[in-house]
This record gives sequence, structure tokens and C-alpha cells, in this order.
Amino acid sequence: MTKRLHVTSYGCQMNVRDGEEVAGLLMREGYALAPSPDEADVILFNTCSVREHAEDRVWSNVGALKTLKASRPELIIGILGCMAQAHQETIFRRMPHVDFVAGPASLYDVPELIETIQEERRPQLAVARRRRPEFQQVSYHASGVSAFVTIMEGCDKFCTYCIIPFTRGREVSRPAEQVVAEVEEVVRQGFKEVMLLGQNVNSYGRRRLSGAPTTFPQLLRRVNAVPGLERIRFITSHPHDADDAMVAAMRDAEHVCEHLHLPVQSGSDAVLARMRRDYTAADYLAKVAALRRAVPEVALSTDIIVGFPGETEEDFEATRRLLETVRFDSAFMFNYSPRPMAKASQWENDVPPEVKDRRLQALLALQETIGRERDRAWLGRTVEVLAEGPSPKNPADWTGRARDNRHVVFPGGLELTGQLVRVRVHEIRGHTLVGTVMG
Ligand code: SAH
Ligand code: SF4
Ligand code: F3S
Repeated sequence: MTKRLHVTSYGCQMNVRDGEEVAGLLMREGYALAPSPDEADVILFNTCSVREHAEDRVWSNVGALKTLKASRPELIIGILGCMAQAHQETIFRRMPHVDFVAGPASLYDVPELIETIQEERRPQLAVARRRRPEFQQVSYHASGVSAFVTIMEGCDKFCTYCIIPFTRGREVSRPAEQVVAEVEEVVRQGFKEVMLLGQNVNSYGRRRLSGAPTTFPQLLRRVNAVPGLERIRFITSHPHDADDAMVAAMRDAEHVCEHLHLPVQSGSDAVLARMRRDYTAADYLAKVAALRRAVPEVALSTDIIVGFPGETEEDFEATRRLLETVRFDSAFMFNYSPRPMAKASQWENDVPPEVKDRRLQALLALQETIGRERDRAWLGRTVEVLAEGPSPKNPADWTGRARDNRHVVFPGGLELTGQLVRVRVHEIRGHTLVGTVMG
């Protein structure tokens, strides 16, 4: 009988792609995807450690499988991803029904680990901190119109709040030839859009396993030349490394979408310095201005951390001013969460929770107003949308994304899925543009 597999990925898009790669490797071995964990022989949790809350969800969801495992002892439960690396054998202590724990560097060993467990029936721990020996070409990409393509792994930045360099290890770039080959493969599979992934895509090429040196802007131009590809997105850019060459590539390469996610984290130079971000608010504003000069319609999104150790009311006001000055299209904002191993976790977490919450709520409300104003600018205009499929809320509506990453809904049908359509916007619902397809 075919073995069945269920993978749940948490966290960033890179983690989601890792989940697809593991699924792809196991499907090569004959596994099929199960629609729910209850129906699977192997259940994998591909986890995230970025904030405590992300971990709490996993502890509780994996904990809930205890009875299922008791009733089906042959079931295999594995913990992958950043929590595997961060917590290692503690996971077995807290959750004895887990069969294996494998960190991001051991991704490609998962099929073998599962085989060993089937033969030996004892827990396996794979948390070597070495880099991945190579990037494998895994052709499976979850269905959809946009395919995730990993271009690098790890991070060398060591921002003082961040656990990722400890869970993902040192930065290493995938050879450009491999990236281009994977993009060609997904285009053959019918994808119209790729999302290039790395913790800091702008340092792409600095440390590489093999191949000729290629910078990120050069990579963008090479991917742009892949026949049949309609759209290119990428995430994440670090403001220190996002340079004029990237801006020029965004301007020149017609398939690169007009959207940049550029996490600023704080508007206070003192906080930015303690975060070890290597830029000031003025540097950040200058990069935004250069980008907007070159790509006037660009949409900007960002990440903000509220209540970093030592954040004063003035620091917070500086962040508020930065949001007012830049006027982001959207922003992901979170209260600071101390993370083991990250430098700042040794400092006093001295902004009281109620102050963090008040500041966060104030920024969320401000950004909501700005976001709405920026959405409204699209009323009456026509946008290019890559149609994805029926809207979960109303199956007569089709959804898709505009080039600037805004959600768009419009009356549609199956024949539109995967097509680029022109939609005239006549309403804004929440942050979604609502319109009709122009003939
Ligand atoms: N590599 C990306 C970020 C990955 S983590 C970059 O450098 O931009 C995604 C976001 O999570 C970060 O931008 C940051 O805003 C947030 N984050 C990371 N560590 C955090 C922590 N300890 N507490 C709260 N938010 C955190
Ligand atoms: Fe974390 Fe900073 Fe690296 Fe982003 S750049 S992954 S925030 S250490
Ligand atoms: Fe989370 Fe790891 Fe990504 S901590 S955000 S899954 S790199």
C-alpha cells in the first residue's frame, strides 16, 4: 500500500519551500500526500522559532497528536525546521511521541531518517550545524500559479534580536545555473510567476558553493530572460545591502514586479544600532527615495519590531514618524520576543508588555489609515492581475494578485486561472481591490 505523508509548514516562505522539498523527496520514494494528518503514515511539522508565539503553536499542535500516536504506534512524527535546530533533544523530552527531530541542514536526510526509524524503531536526532552539502533540484512545487525558488540558505547578519542565523546556519548561495534551471522547470510545469527566496537576497553570491560569481541584480536579469516566465518576486531584502544595482534591475527587468519588501524594524537610529542593522533611518529613507525615483509605482512593505530592549517613547515616536514619512503599502508589526541564542536575549526585556501593546496598537492603527489611503489610489484604474483561482469566500469570484502584490477579486471562471488579466478596479473591500475584467 502507498505510504501517505502530511507536512505542515510554519514561518517564512523559505520554510514553506523546504516543506515542499521534503514532500518532493518522499514522493520520489513513492509517498502520496494525505489530505489531513489523521490519514497519514508520516506527519511532519516544519517549524519556526522567530517569535515565542510561533513555537507555542507547534508545541500545542504536536502535543495534540499524542492520542493518535498511542492508537497507531507505527505512525511516524517528525519535527523539522528552525525549532528542531533550536530545541534539539528537548523536543523528545517534552513530547516523547515524536520520532525524529531534523534541523534545516538535515533536510535532505529526512527520507533516510524515516527508513531508519521504520527499521530500528528508535528516535533519531539530526541537528548537525553544517551547511547543506548542496542544493538539490527537487521538481515538486505545490500547485498554484506562483512557485517558490530558494536562491540561498542561512544568514550571516546576526541582528541582535534574531534566532535565524543560529537555526539556519551560515549564509550560502545556490549556483545561478541551478536557480535558472529550476525557474525553467517550473515554467515548463505551467507556473507563471516565481518568488526567489533567501533571508537576505541582496547578499546573494557572496558565499557560494560553486559556479561563476553572480550578484543578486545579475541573477534577476538572468531569471528575467527565462522564456515564458511572466513575473518575478523576491524576498527578503536587507536595507544595508539593497543597492543601486538592484534598483536598476527592478527598473529594467520587465518581469520583476513593482513590489519591494524592505524590513526597517525601527525608525530610531539608537534602536537600529542596538539591533545591529547597519543603517540609519536616513539611509533607509534615501534608499526608498532612490527606488521610488526609478520605479514610481513601486509598492513597499516592511517589518517592524515594537518594544525592543531600551526602546524609549522618543524611539517609538521616531518609528511612528518613519511610517508617516514612507507611507508603506503594508507592514508586518510584532512585539519584540526574546529569542534564545540571539544577543539581545541577554539584555533586560525592559519595555513592559502593556507599553509594547499600546505602541503596537498605535502603529497598527496608523498603518491601517495609510494603507487604506494608498489602496484608494487604485480606484478607477486598471491593474494587471495573475489569476489564481476561486475566492474562498465566494466561489463565483476569482482572486489574484496585482503586480504590486495587492489582492484583487473579480468575477471569473476556471479558464482564467494562470492567465494575466486586466482588471478595472471599482471598489476597495478591506485591503482587497474589487473589479471587473476588461475585454
Ligand atoms: N531575513 C529577514 C527577516 C526574517 S524574520 C530580514 O532580515 O528582513 C521576519 C521578521 O520577523 C523580521 O523582519 C522581524 O521584524 C521579525 N522578528 C525577527 N526576530 C524577532 C523577534 N525576536 N521578536 C519579534 N520579531 C522578530
Ligand atoms: Fe534575522 Fe537579521 Fe538575518 Fe534577517 S538579516 S534573518 S533579521 S539576522
Ligand atoms: Fe521562522 Fe526559521 Fe523562517 S525561524 S521565519 S522558519 S528561517
